[in-house]
Amino acid sequence: MDAPTTESAGNGADGDSGAWGWFTPSPAKSPEKPTDSTEPVESSGTAESAAEQAVPPTAPRTTPQAAPRAAGRTATLPPRREVPAAAGPVPESALEASVRTQRPAAAEASADALLIRRTMAEIEPVAEQVTSYFYALLFVRYPDLRQLFPVSMDEQRDRLFKALLTAAQRVDDDASLTEFLAHLGRGHRKYGTLPEHYPAVGECLLGALARYATLSWDGEAEAAWIRAYTKISQIMIDAAAEDEATAPAWWDAEVVAHELRTSDIAIVTVRPDQPYPFLAGQYTSVETPWWPRVWRHYSFACAPRSDGLLSFHVKAVPAGWVSGALVHRARPGDVIRLGPPGGSMTVDHTTDNGLLCLGGGTGIAPIKALVEDVAEHGRRRPVEVFYGARSDHDLYDIDTMLRLEHAHPWLSVRPVISSGPTGGVYRSISGRLPDAVREYGPWGEYDAYVSGPPGMIRSGVDALVGVGVPSDRIRHDAVEELVAAGE
Ligand SMILES: Cc1cc2nc3c(=O)[nH]c(=O)nc-3n(C[C@H](O)[C@H](O)[C@H](O)COP(=O)(O)OP(=O)(O)OC[C@H]3O[C@@H](n4cnc5c(N)ncnc54)[C@H](O)[C@@H]3O)c2cc1C
Ligand code: HEM
Repeated sequence: MDAPTTESAGNGADGDSGAWGWFTPSPAKSPEKPTDSTEPVESSGTAESAAEQAVPPTAPRTTPQAAPRAAGRTATLPPRREVPAAAGPVPESALEASVRTQRPAAAEASADALLIRRTMAEIEPVAEQVTSYFYALLFVRYPDLRQLFPVSMDEQRDRLFKALLTAAQRVDDDASLTEFLAHLGRGHRKYGTLPEHYPAVGECLLGALARYATLSWDGEAEAAWIRAYTKISQIMIDAAAEDEATAPAWWDAEVVAHELRTSDIAIVTVRPDQPYPFLAGQYTSVETPWWPRVWRHYSFACAPRSDGLLSFHVKAVPAGWVSGALVHRARPGDVIRLGPPGGSMTVDHTTDNGLLCLGGGTGIAPIKALVEDVAEHGRRRPVEVFYGARSDHDLYDIDTMLRLEHAHPWLSVRPVISSGPTGGVYRSISGRLPDAVREYGPWGEYDAYVSGPPGMIRSGVDALVGVGVPSDRIRHDAVEELVAAGE
């Protein structure tokens, strides 16, 4: 999440001048300003130093289980109080030009969308400070919320802020907004997020915006943000409440097998404590007992199985918290947590198109799941897998893939090696995945799936489009997510 100012308040310059909390559900909760010693604005010169002072270095050791799983239903904000005029006139040239550059179709946007984009254009260059200030406000005003977040949250926090801004930008497009936010709202159940937390976040978001968007912030901008945030949070709250009827906030899953395939890649198999519905090609989020409240994504390495077991291929990245723990520490009997499934890299069973699959590194895991899925559905569709790695040694799952190829005449698996000797026992091809795809084909009758590091996804998609696969028939996980994950 992030940040802006609160308050609307008074002069539009620092969010702390007005009465607290028209966003706050219970006036008793934070009726007064924080004391000087923790006040993020006055006590420090910059938002960064404010954040450093305000955010406790460690959070109380409370896990999301401690929070009630119930979700209520209402996010509507209290009526807006009167807002004084903005601090000064907005320099139209700079801001308007910026907005025009971002959205040429601005003329079609609603008045609220235009106001929101003006704020965003202004804060974009200082987004990091705005984010820090937002968290400072949140944890000073609502210290109880700190325990929902990981001890160290530098890597994740701008994702929350970015998501808020992305959502605010889509405020005119209900379908896209709901698609984006409903999944997020369901996923927030695992953090212990409750409906009553949303007004606190909204208040601090506006607090940070008002502090940094000094040129474009005024009563109208504030009112537009309140409407947008109310809509955003209501979608997330509703999605969470609906999900509650059918799914737990998270699943406990016991490790039942742990196989170290290479010095840094493990195949981890778990048994969820209750049925876990998902589709081949999707991923989930995982929390380990060693890094509470730190969640990371992992793709399922199998299609749904009759015994309910799930498997993952995990590569330990240097100094990686969760991957290191899953590869080097997890043992049978350990219990991890799983969030809900996500992702749309799934097989379209309504068509007979072939599947062209590009998997690099542990990106082969969901590709293997797709192959199993096709096998289980029983329709003979050609499936062509290009499995990329640096060397033969890095093809850690090649034996499984070749066994599948042997069992299914419709499946072809081609290892592609970017450096080192080729040929060998696996008959690997030399080069990079995109080049290999260009050499074979034609692919006009195929749906394409790309899985691996972001660079590979980008070059793979380019190559596929280049050989004539329409982009709406190319599926992959969100590159931004993977980049955020450091992949
Ligand atoms: C949709 C999705 C699916 C994913 N599926 C899988 C999967 O099936 N298997 C799998 O192993 N991972 C997968 N990942 C990546 C995974 O979510 C984690 O990002 C990864 O395991 C690192 O987490 P960590 O906590 O160990 O490292 P962190 O503690 O987050 O990172 C430690 C340091 O390592 C850097 N780093 C992170 N990743 C890498 C990397 N790949 N190479 C080099 N440095 C890195 C970070 O920037 C940071 O400096 C997936 C990610 C996404 C978004
Ligand atoms: C209303 C708009 C909100 C948006 C758009 C939003 C968005 C996000 C996003 C994108 C993430 C990154 C991880 C993920 O995808 O799950 C995240 C994480 C998180 N959010 Fe939210 N969120 C919102 C509200 C809230 C509220 C009200 C709370 C409760 C205090 C909350 C608590 C958390 C926590 C604890 C995390 C995990 C942080 C971490 O792993 O570092 N969020 N949020």
